Amino acid sequence: MPVFCLPFLISYTWGSRALLKVLSSSACFIGNYRSALNDAIQAKKLKPTHLKAIIRGALCHMELKNFSEAIAWCEEGLQIDSKEKKLVEVRAKADKLKRAEERDARKAKVMEKKEQCQKEILLAAIKERNIKLALKPSNEEEEISGGLAEISLDGFHSDNATEAKVHLDADGNLNWPVLFLYPEHEQTDFIVAFHENSRFIDHLMVMFAELPPWDLERKYLPCDLELYFEDEERAAMYQLNPEHTLLQVLQHKRYFVKAGTPTVLAFVKSSPFSKKYFSGKKVHRL
Ligand SMILES: *[C@@H]1O[C@H](CO)[C@@H](O)[C@H](O)[C@H]1NC(C)=O
Ligand SMILES: *[C@@H]1O[C@H](CO)[C@@H](O)[C@H](O)[C@H]1NC(C)=O
Repeated sequence: MPVFCLPFLISYTWGSRALLKVLSSSACFIGNYRSALNDAIQAKKLKPTHLKAIIRGALCHMELKNFSEAIAWCEEGLQIDSKEKKLVEVRAKADKLKRAEERDARKAKVMEKKEQCQKEILLAAIKERNIKLALKPSNEEEEISGGLAEISLDGFHSDNATEAKVHLDADGNLNWPVLFLYPEHEQTDFIVAFHENSRFIDHLMVMFAELPPWDLERKYLPCDLELYFEDEERAAMYQLNPEHTLLQVLQHKRYFVKAGTPTVLAFVKSSPFSKKYFSGKKVHRL
């Protein structure tokens, strides 16, 4: 057994025997193909017409998924014996796999380009609306070089991270994931796609059509709620008008979208909790 298998044997002695076997065998096989390939290369060097070595080399390249090399070795062998069955078979298989690989690579590239293009359109839409994306303070260099999108749109780590991203709908309107925080109860609501022209009150009416189970005092009535957003840079809170649309709020001169997810805080109007929460804070009320 080659030496490089030993680390696996040692580090996995705690594991099940089955696991040990799988890990060590797959690691060894790759290694074995490499060393078998080296043997074949040496043999071919000594005797270029060594057909068996060429077949072995071609097979090793197949196992190592280097199809171009496998084809090259087959070609070389077929120069010696154009009817060699194994070589004809391996070349056909390598050819097929190589083309599949190239096709996949092309597809991936097209997809990547498409995604990049969509991202640029999205960013243009955000910029056009004068919506400001907050930047992570640690990435000032990137910020300048236009890494902005990268940083700010990939942010929200929910279970449905892929779903919950700002996107343009068919009508060219932005839909944002929006987070509602209820500090009094340490609760949240998450709206996956908040249409930019919807008003906050519309969502509150739906969200609080039934009082949530945590609202034991039954006071979270849509018309009694006050909404705020936080301006971290200035350590200030801004009250927002629930009759306003998401777009209007996002266009506020002090609104910065963080982590791709607009966030608002909701309080019950003049509740003891909100009084306490805002005491000593800089608050811009309507
Ligand atoms: C295949 O092997 C050749 C020669 O060793 C190498 O140059 C090439 O990068 C390899 N290709 C892949 C896909 O591993
Ligand atoms: C998460 O995504 C799945 C599949 O798209 C969807 O059915 C589900 O409702 C989503 N969950 C949330 C909380 O958005």
